[in-house]
Amino acid sequence: MPLTNRTHLSTLTQFLIEERRRFPSASGDFNALILDVALACKAIARAVALGELGGTLGDHAADEGGNINVQGETQKKLDVLSNEVFIRRTEWAGNLAGMASEEMDLPYQIPPQYPRGKYLLVFDPLDGSSNIDVNVSVGSIFSVLRVSKEIEESGRDVCEADFLQSGAQQVAAGYALYGPTTMLVLTVGDGVNGFTLDPNLGEFMLTHPRLRIPEDSHEFAINASNSRFWEAPVKRYVDECLAGRTGPRDKDFNMRWIASMVAEAHRILMRGGVFLYPRDTKDPAKPGRLRLLYEANPVGMLMEQAGGRASTGERPMLGVQPTSLHQRIGLVFGSRNEVERIERYHAEPQRSELCNPLFAERSLFRV
Ligand code: AHG
Ligand code: MN
Ligand code: MN
Repeated sequence: MPLTNRTHLSTLTQFLIEERRRFPSASGDFNALILDVALACKAIARAVALGELGGTLGDHAADEGGNINVQGETQKKLDVLSNEVFIRRTEWAGNLAGMASEEMDLPYQIPPQYPRGKYLLVFDPLDGSSNIDVNVSVGSIFSVLRVSKEIEESGRDVCEADFLQSGAQQVAAGYALYGPTTMLVLTVGDGVNGFTLDPNLGEFMLTHPRLRIPEDSHEFAINASNSRFWEAPVKRYVDECLAGRTGPRDKDFNMRWIASMVAEAHRILMRGGVFLYPRDTKDPAKPGRLRLLYEANPVGMLMEQAGGRASTGERPMLGVQPTSLHQRIGLVFGSRNEVERIERYHAEPQRSELCNPLFAERSLFRV
C-alpha cells in the first residue's frame, strides 16, 4: 500500500476517542492508560528489534538482582527490561491504583509522588521469552481491571485480593506482537481491533478492524512432548486430529507450535485454529502451564470478543474465580466449534468410567 493510500486509516488515538463518544461521561483516564500501554509496547518493540545490537539478549545476570522470577523461571534481560518499561510508562499518570506482573512476586504500588486512579493493570511484559535468543516472535499481554469504589476513594495500597477478579470483569485486554511487523490487538469490550505499527509515523494504525475467528478449523497447536501427561479427553482430541481423514473427524489437520502464546493467539485470530496448554499430570504443583490473570484471561476476552471461545477445557475461562495472583490454569482457546468439542470430551464419561457398571449396556449413563 503506497504511503499516500494509508491516510484513510485511523490511528489508535482516533479509534479510542471515537469509542469514547459512546460514553459521554467518561473521564478520558482509560484512553490515556491505553495510550501509555501502547507507548510501552513501542519501546519494547524497539528493544526486541535491536536484538544483539542492543545488548539485551540472554539471561538477566544474577548479580543484578537475581534471575529467577516468582514462577521459578529464569528471567531474560528483556523480561526485566520490558517489565520496567511497562511500569515507568504507566505509573505516573494518575490512572492506576496498582499493577501486577509475571515478573513481580507482589502487587506494585504506585509511588507516593504520583496520583492514584481507578484501574489495575495486569501484564505479562514479554510472553514467549524463550524465543528471544532465537529471533522468533514474542509479545506483551495486558488486562485492565477496575478497582472498588473503596480503593478509588481511599487511595490505599492494593493487595493481592484486589486483583482476584474473574476474566468477565475485565474492562479491556490486548496484546502487542513483536513479529515481522509490530501489532497491537485490543478489545475494550466491543469487538476486537488490530493495529499495525507504522514505523514511519511511530503510530499504531487500525489495519484489522472487527476481527472474527472462523468457527471451524483444521489447525491445532499443542506441545506434544507432554502427551504422556495429558488427561484422556485431550489425548482423545489430539488422537482424532492426528487420525485425520481416516479417523472420526474425516478431515486432515495441520499442526503448529510457536511456543509464544501471543503469536499463536494472533494466528488464530487471523485464520482460526485451536490452542491447548491443558492441565496435565507433569507436575502436581502446577495445574497447567499458563497463568490465569495475565495470560489466560486477556487472551480469553479477546477470543470471546472475536466470536471464538476460551476454556479451562471444562468450563469458560472468563467465569473462573481466581485464588492467587500467579495462579496457573489449563487453557484451551480458538475456533468456537473446536473448543466446544474439547469441552464436550471433558464432560463425557471417560473410557475407564465406561467399564463401571453404571455405564454398562442398557445403563442410564450409557453414551
Ligand atoms: P513466558 O515466556 O511469559 O513465560 O510464557 C511462555 C509460555 C507461552 O507463551 C507458551 O505458549 C508456552 O509458555 C511455551 O511452553 P513450552 O516451553 O512448554 O513449549
Ligand atoms: Mn507468558
Ligand atoms: Mn513472560
